[in-house]
Amino acid sequence: MLTRKYEKDGIKVVWKPELCYHSENCTKGLPEVFKPNEKPWIQVDEASRERIVSQVKKCPSGALSIEGDSNTEKESPQEALTLIETVKNGPVLVKGNLGLKIGDGETDRLSQDRIALCRCGSSRKKPFCDGSHTEVDFKAD
Ligand code: SF4
Ligand code: FES
Repeated sequence: MLTRKYEKDGIKVVWKPELCYHSENCTKGLPEVFKPNEKPWIQVDEASRERIVSQVKKCPSGALSIEGDSNTEKESPQEALTLIETVKNGPVLVKGNLGLKIGDGETDRLSQDRIALCRCGSSRKKPFCDGSHTEVDFKAD
């Protein structure tokens, strides 16, 4: 999976574009850092480490995650309950200690603790949600 990392004061912001479903939490929540029309689109010098960590935690899909922050890592204990949560008119979020196996492939241990899976059937990046549920006007609680 394509992965890019952006260093900031001892932590890394990890970006996995394949997992993003364009919820826009990041671009609306911290627009001075997350600038989809610029390169690089994540500009970690524009806000404090604390604000960036706080915003990254709000990414619902796991496309954004933090590496190297002991507080964030403590929130994802190995034995924590795995949570399956539906987003109204959108994907299924799975949160926990996750692995992913596609077809006959190997099981990849995921470095992020959440993922958004398509439940409308229209994603072009299955099994991940890519935001297509909005285009097809998918409805479900
Ligand atoms: S899914 Fe995550 S990375 Fe994608 S737009 Fe939403 S908050 Fe940003
Ligand atoms: S639920 Fe988002 S693309 Fe299917």
